[in-house]
Amino acid sequence: MATPHFVRAGVLIPWAMVMAAVGCAAQAQASEALARKNDCLGCHAVATKLVGPSYKEVAAKYAGQADAQALLVQSIRNGSVGKWGDLPMPAHPKLSEADAKKLAAWVLNLK
Ligand code: HEC
Repeated sequence: MATPHFVRAGVLIPWAMVMAAVGCAAQAQASEALARKNDCLGCHAVATKLVGPSYKEVAAKYAGQADAQALLVQSIRNGSVGKWGDLPMPAHPKLSEADAKKLAAWVLNLK
């Protein structure tokens, strides 16, 4: 008799969920490495305010805002001032748009 479908599904579904979780974690690690490489973490930490706001605060401020990623890409590449305090964030013109998008998405997904 052939293996009933529910037996195979029972194995495959949890496996797919594990692989998705592993993929997410790997992506988050890559983005954190990108942030470290570009000196973002000299002024920002994920959960504590340093020179700039913590990335969790940023994620909370823009939660549910549809254009948040595009907005943060602008702030990251062109710099920003006056949104969080008096200290300005310097522009990062050498950062590619693709990398800025990755960083913005990573920040917005922190909880
Ligand atoms: C010299 C310190 C410094 C560095 C380096 C720095 N930041 Fe910032 N960042 C700041 C400050 C200060 C602010 C708050 C600016 C403001 O009030 O508008 C800020 C704000 C932000 C914001 C919120 C912007 C907004 O529109 O609300 C994001 C996102 C951010 N930084 C990401 C990054 C990333 C990614 C990098 C690395 C490419 C980086 N920062 C590097 C100091 C820094």
